[in-house]
Amino acid sequence: MSFKEKYARISRYYELLERPLDRFFCPLRKKAVSFIEGRRVLEVGVGVGKTLRYYGRNVELCAVDAVPEALEIARKKARKLGLNACFQLADVENLPFPDESFDTVVSSFVFCTVPDPEKGVREILRVLKPGGRAIFLEHTKSDSILLNYLVLLPLKVPLKVILDDDPLRETHRLVRRYFDVELEESHYNGIVRLILARKPLQG
Ligand SMILES: C[S@@+](CC[C@H](N)C(=O)[O-])C[C@H]1O[C@@H](n2cnc3c(N)ncnc32)[C@H](O)[C@@H]1O
Repeated sequence: MSFKEKYARISRYYELLERPLDRFFCPLRKKAVSFIEGRRVLEVGVGVGKTLRYYGRNVELCAVDAVPEALEIARKKARKLGLNACFQLADVENLPFPDESFDTVVSSFVFCTVPDPEKGVREILRVLKPGGRAIFLEHTKSDSILLNYLVLLPLKVPLKVILDDDPLRETHRLVRRYFDVELEESHYNGIVRLILARKPLQG
């Protein structure tokens, strides 16, 4: 079963399942969104829209996800919040937007699942305007060898089976390869990272 089928199945219960983690992750989602620059914003892997309540009304948001069931829930949430937002079914590995379309791209807890993360990061780079900002809030391999072996490694198989999620991804290293990193904030020993990354002005 693909990640799309897995997320489609749990979309309706996603908020409920994640509730125990909200006190840890929602303040970080709010902080991530506070770093948005400019009006034209893309959120990739928006899921059921857990970041939406943090967006300002001045933003023209375009939100994509590969799972229609999740996207529909997010769309309803945005309508209730009165956001200026559009929703599109799309894969972050193949974004349906021209080059240099957005001032900011937001990704929150997405790259642990994207099948080809390098392709996804390159697509974000492509659709960002030169000098545009990418905001990644991602769960990643820890800085602590002990945590990696004792906590994340044992979670690898169950998370793969349930969500196609890899808790040992090194998204931070991938981002460093393509962007100028302005800030990399490590939380819970690097299990979660907030990364602000700037698209270089040239090349
Ligand atoms: C863990 S959820 C996070 C959802 C939301 N961003 C949040 O912060 O709660 C991961 C989301 O990324 C989406 N996703 C994963 N890989 C994707 C891809 N290649 N293209 C588009 N969406 C993807 C999944 O469908 C899912 O909705």
